[in-house]
Amino acid sequence: SKEIADQPDAVQAALRGRADFAKGTLSLPEITLTHDQITSLDRVVLTGMGTSLHTAMFGANVIESLARIPSVAENSSELRYRNPVLGPSTLMIAMTQSGETADTLAAMEHGRQAGSPQGVVLEMEGSQATRIADFTLPVRAGQEICVASTKTMIASMTTLLELAVFLAEARGVIDENRVKQIVGQLAELPSLIATVLELNGQITELAKHLSAYNDLLYLGRGAQLPIALEGALKMKEIAYIHAEGNPAGEMKHGMNALLGPDMATVVCAPMND
Ligand code: F6R
Repeated sequence: SKEIADQPDAVQAALRGRADFAKGTLSLPEITLTHDQITSLDRVVLTGMGTSLHTAMFGANVIESLARIPSVAENSSELRYRNPVLGPSTLMIAMTQSGETADTLAAMEHGRQAGSPQGVVLEMEGSQATRIADFTLPVRAGQEICVASTKTMIASMTTLLELAVFLAEARGVIDENRVKQIVGQLAELPSLIATVLELNGQITELAKHLSAYNDLLYLGRGAQLPIALEGALKMKEIAYIHAEGNPAGEMKHGMNALLGPDMATVVCAPMND
């Protein structure tokens, strides 16, 4: 679809006004947290549903890894129906393309009532979520028309990486050279995505091959786990093929009993992981 092809531009939009490629710096002027609020954080809870939950999982991984703050991603419909411990030292980050998903809004309400500082990463500015959150990080990818989110997801992940660097800098746990390195990699991202899109012919061939299977297993580890889960979600949503995403190491705990000629496995394993 057109939106798949829009991904390089979506990432550019998420970087515009934030990444300074000449200086190798990042800024997030939208964040209204005080220095004291940032240094007193002892936890980050990211929340969302569907694709936005997978994006939140990626965010928890990069925030904890770079900013050294314990971070988790939780399904909003789980969070809203339990009695979570939240408070001023927990930063809540809601992920929602539309800003109107009922479960996500209800989870955000918990955060507001507990006095947690709260940000929302979204596309639709002016939606209900922007009224609950203290600050909004717009992804600016343009509204996604297709039910399967692609450009929103990649632009949201870019925004979360920017947030991770911002928190790491504010807490003094990242050095200038590492930031420069990340900004340099982000600068290359749109053209790298364009290179992947040029593989369209090969991807179509692979899709034809996989369409013969009744079951698909997606595997990933670390930052690749949410990508594996998202692959399975998309396969169900778009191709109506049963698919499951699993942490790679979890495969031998149950899934291996179902392996056989009817199940193909897709492994998310880029060379640098
Ligand atoms: C999109 C998808 C959906 C949405 C979910 C959350 O591919 O599968 O599950 O991700 O409905 O929507 P938002 O992000 O608008 O809160």
